[in-house]
Amino acid sequence: MAEVALAPLGLVLVTVWLMLPAYLANTIASIVGGGPPIDDSRNWNDGQRILGDGKTWRGLIGGTLGGLLVGHLQMTAGADFFSGYVSWGSSPYLIFFLLAFGALAGDMAASFIKRRQGQERGTKSPLLDMYDFIIGALVLTGLFGGGWLNHWLFGGWISYGWVPLITLLIATPILHRSVNILGYKIGVKQVPW
Ligand code: CTP
Ligand code: MG
Repeated sequence: MAEVALAPLGLVLVTVWLMLPAYLANTIASIVGGGPPIDDSRNWNDGQRILGDGKTWRGLIGGTLGGLLVGHLQMTAGADFFSGYVSWGSSPYLIFFLLAFGALAGDMAASFIKRRQGQERGTKSPLLDMYDFIIGALVLTGLFGGGWLNHWLFGGWISYGWVPLITLLIATPILHRSVNILGYKIGVKQVPW
């Protein structure tokens, strides 16, 4: 199918589909997280925790591996869906890793900022909570993903380049909120945000 026939509505779907390893890395971290905190329970020089008990090794490693698994399942389910829309560069798995790890790194950066503002673990910080992981995923894929990010976000779709960006801005809070409410209901998250 011609790329043009799918755009821009298809581009919305492609955007959400491509970002799934990042979206789900966070969810998986909530499910498998717990145990030793990454900051080793240490405080920053302001007397507050560096990251807090909500950022654990199990969440980081499990979420990263989980994101890789999501990408793997996506490839198995429909690798063809990607072709033509994405230039993978060296390996799709590098991209899945960068998306998942980047999401969790962004989430850790947000926790660092929240702790510096004196906010306890689990407090709500609407903008940070909603966009932290997507920013982390975009930064890491942008830096280390070859032309991947550029290709679908700005490059190959130059006439519709605004669609992925708007999609991320709008879909991210909706997906994030829905998944978190679900996580809260099934008991893997302590708060619905
Ligand atoms: N989690 C984890 N390790 C990570 C990220 C998340 O173990 N690297 C788990 C923790 O159990 C955490 C839950 O996922 O409580 C939800 O993540 P998040 O909402 O990011 O953490 P909060 O507990 O809200 O802490 P913070 O205020 O630092 O965001
Ligand atoms: Mg939180």
